[in-house]
Parts: sequence; C-alpha cells; structure tokens
Amino acid sequence: MTQRSAPRHFLRLSDLADREINDILDLGARLRRGVRGADLVNKTVGLLFFRGSLRTRSSFEVALNQLGGHALNLNANTDFWRLEERSGTVMDGEAPEHIRDAAAALSCYADALAIRPALAGNSWERDRKDTELKAWAEHSRVPVINMESALWHPLQALADLMTLRDALGKLEGRRLAITWTRSPSPGSPAVVHSILLAALRAGMNVSLAHPKGFDLEPSVMDEAHTQAESEGASLEVGHEMDAAARGAHVVYARSWWPLESYGNPTLTASRLARETGWCVDERTMALGEDARLMHPMPVRRNLEASDEVLDGPRSLLIDQAANRLHTQKGLLSLLFRPS
Ligand code: CP
Repeated sequence: MTQRSAPRHFLRLSDLADREINDILDLGARLRRGVRGADLVNKTVGLLFFRGSLRTRSSFEVALNQLGGHALNLNANTDFWRLEERSGTVMDGEAPEHIRDAAAALSCYADALAIRPALAGNSWERDRKDTELKAWAEHSRVPVINMESALWHPLQALADLMTLRDALGKLEGRRLAITWTRSPSPGSPAVVHSILLAALRAGMNVSLAHPKGFDLEPSVMDEAHTQAESEGASLEVGHEMDAAARGAHVVYARSWWPLESYGNPTLTASRLARETGWCVDERTMALGEDARLMHPMPVRRNLEASDEVLDGPRSLLIDQAANRLHTQKGLLSLLFRPS
C-alpha cells in the first residue's frame, strides 16, 4: 500500500490539536458506552515491540479486533532482524537490516506502524533524542504511532486525560500532584513528561515532587513552565511528596530513573537506595481534597503505593488501564476516518 502524501505521525500528544484530543476522548467515551465504532475491516496496524508491554500490546490488539481491523504483532527479540538506525553508516556491525528498509517494506503491508522502541540505556543524551522512533517516522510511508519512547507516552496521556475527565469533570483549575515513587526498577520519565504537559494544557494546577537529583528532562520542564504560563495554570516543583499531595484532587504516582546517573547502574542503584519512603498510602491520600490515585502501571505494591490505597475506592488505576482501550479505539477511528 503506497501513501501519496506524507503520513501524519502521532509521536507525542502535541501532535494533536485540542479539538482532535477532545474528539478522541468523546469518541472513546461513546465507544465505551457501546456505540458502534469505525469500520477498520482490511486495515492492519503493525505493532513493533522492542521492549516488553502488558497493557499497550493487549489494549491495542483488542482495540483493532473490536473495530474489525488486524494487529500484526512483531517482537524484536523473536520476529525480525536487528535494525540499524544511523544514516550513511557502513553496516558491518550486528544489524543486517536498516530501519529505512524495514519501514519501507512494512509500509507495503500495514496501514500504520505503532512502535515501542528500545532504549539504549547508556546515555540520556542519546536516548532523550528518541532517535529510533524518529527514524521510523522518517522512513515509514504510513503513520507511525509512539507506544512509549524515552521521552513520551502519548497513548497513556490520552487514557489519563479520559480518566481525569471522568473523575473530575472540568479539569481547569483542579489540582494534580505528580509524585516520584520508589522502585528498584524505575521506568523512563516518558509517562510523567506526557501527563505533566497534558494536565497543564488542560489548565490543571500541578505540583511535582521528586527527590533531589531526580529532575525531569530539562527541555520538557522548560516546555511545562511555558505551557503553565500560557494556560494561566501553576506549576510547583518540590522535594516532598506530602507537600505536593496537600490539597490535590488527584495524586499521580510514578517512578523514574535519576537522569543524572542514567547509564550507570551502580550509581543509579546507590542513588535509589538512599531514598526511603516515597510510597503513597492512606495518610498521603488524606492530605488531598477527596483525592484519587493514578499510576500508569505496572505498579510495585507496598513500595510505590500501599495495598490499602491500590485496592480501595480512591484508586483509578484499573480505569486508566481500561481507558487505554477506549481512547486507542477513538484514535484509530479518527486515524482511519475517510477524509
Ligand atoms: N502503562 C503501560 O504502558 O503499560 P505497559 O508497559 O504494560 O504497556
């Protein structure tokens, strides 16, 4: 299948206009109520996983099935060649195929490609550029969807916006606490970057808490401060979970690596070992305004958040997971809407 015009990619939430985000959330809500979705018969989306996933893979595949489309699941460990992404390189290393050629070939079979790229993990300077994802977008002849890169997780942000909207109604002026949590295997800051900018864009006041040395990507923080200013929202950054949770309507918990020791497992482990606490429990939640808890999962029980909160009425985690399905159906319906 050959696309005539340049494909439109979805690499981060800001690739969508406000109106398009609202359309996806509205359509996702209607589909959740049982309204029939778009017809994706004969549409195939290639799902390429270079890292593990439970929710993203399952929800995307089920979304496609429910809309009548087909998921072409490809796992980098077992299903295809190791890929080179650098341009102009002499390919005498381990990778026998270039992303340029893989993307062009897959574009002949699939109507869109969704990618969860690997992270090199040895240099934040390298990984923060999302080089691999951008190479897919450059060489694909069909739309590329980001299923979580080092910097962004726009699919999670869509589900989180739907969950916030369900829980709070109007988001403008409501207070979101985003707090770091302790984990021996933290993830990338992609989810936190995405919800931070999404919430500010919706006019929410955000308080961000993390230990010293766990700052988010500086370019994202610059963008967040600019976004807050343009929306008339507030963005406070501190180093105490309790201070962030005070007065919050929603507490969003997530662990991420200390970017300053990225690529150095020994230093990262010793940095993580110095942090105690940072577990969301009933006492934390009681500091909020009838606060609800969000976390993208996977969640480490009784380390990131207590069983009591996770299994109690304040938890929105399963709603978030469920909304991955509905919002992705909304996204796919709009992506394949006849123009
Ligand atoms: N939240 C999320 O993306 O989950 P998975 O990593 O399991 O896909």
